[in-house]
Amino acid sequence: MGVQHVAIGIDVGGTGIKGAAIDLATGERITSRHKVATPVGGVPADIAREVGAMTDAIRVEIADRVAAGDAKVAGVAGIATAAEVAALPVGVTLPGVVRNGVMRTAANIDLSWIGTDAHALLAAAVAAPCTVVNDADAAGVAEVAYGEVSGLPGVTLVLTFGTGIGSALVADGVLVPNFELGHLELDGFTSIEHHTSAKVIEREGITLAEWAGRAARYVAYLEKVINPDRFVIGGSISKASDEYLPFAGVAVPVSPARLRNNAGIIGAARLAAEALDPDSANSAP
Ligand code: BGC
Repeated sequence: MGVQHVAIGIDVGGTGIKGAAIDLATGERITSRHKVATPVGGVPADIAREVGAMTDAIRVEIADRVAAGDAKVAGVAGIATAAEVAALPVGVTLPGVVRNGVMRTAANIDLSWIGTDAHALLAAAVAAPCTVVNDADAAGVAEVAYGEVSGLPGVTLVLTFGTGIGSALVADGVLVPNFELGHLELDGFTSIEHHTSAKVIEREGITLAEWAGRAARYVAYLEKVINPDRFVIGGSISKASDEYLPFAGVAVPVSPARLRNNAGIIGAARLAAEALDPDSANSAP
């Protein structure tokens, strides 16, 4: 298997930055999950520095594992040289609209991201082929490729509840990018994420059950106006799904993201590899 079957994914959120190297044939991690807090303020230069440092740490881990004879990394990845590790594509998610590599909105990171050529900044920080994408879109891509939506026809709305609310609309396996349903004006809130993101549990000191009531109201409203065939719930809240699903008043299936809060990392890695070679994730080893 060639090196194009492995990519690094880095998921930048308003609270944390998470990353790993991913085996694109399976969507599984071949390194540990690296995590740091998002730098206070979330300005572009600080985040770019952290993304660069995390990418380097993942590269070191890959090289160490290969040197130690880790069969999984050496066998799955087929990576032998430091140059091959350094050239692995890197996908980075950002929590805002990203169009042609330029960030167009920024709700939970510094406003100076708006208009920033995120692709140029982050490609320089990682010094490798780099793809930049909205975080929820990356999660949607991962759930289509390896998770809850794999092989499913029809319309799926993936919602990620974390610091904000992200959304990815997938129709017959194809992503419609940059849906921003966390910023819907509903129930008197100019952005419904201010009332219903996972962050409000801590910020307002509400219970998970209270949060679930808000989320159910929001999802029922989305069902009414968008009519998807199913909802998939991702983001940091997805790990507690047993405690809040099903949502009252929602008729179509609502399931937790199978890749949980790792979907952003996995989808970013996949998109980075696809940008280099559209067949990278699907061709035979
Ligand atoms: C942003 C979205 C993002 C979501 C989750 C929202 O505030 O506008 O682009 O996907 O937060 O991070």
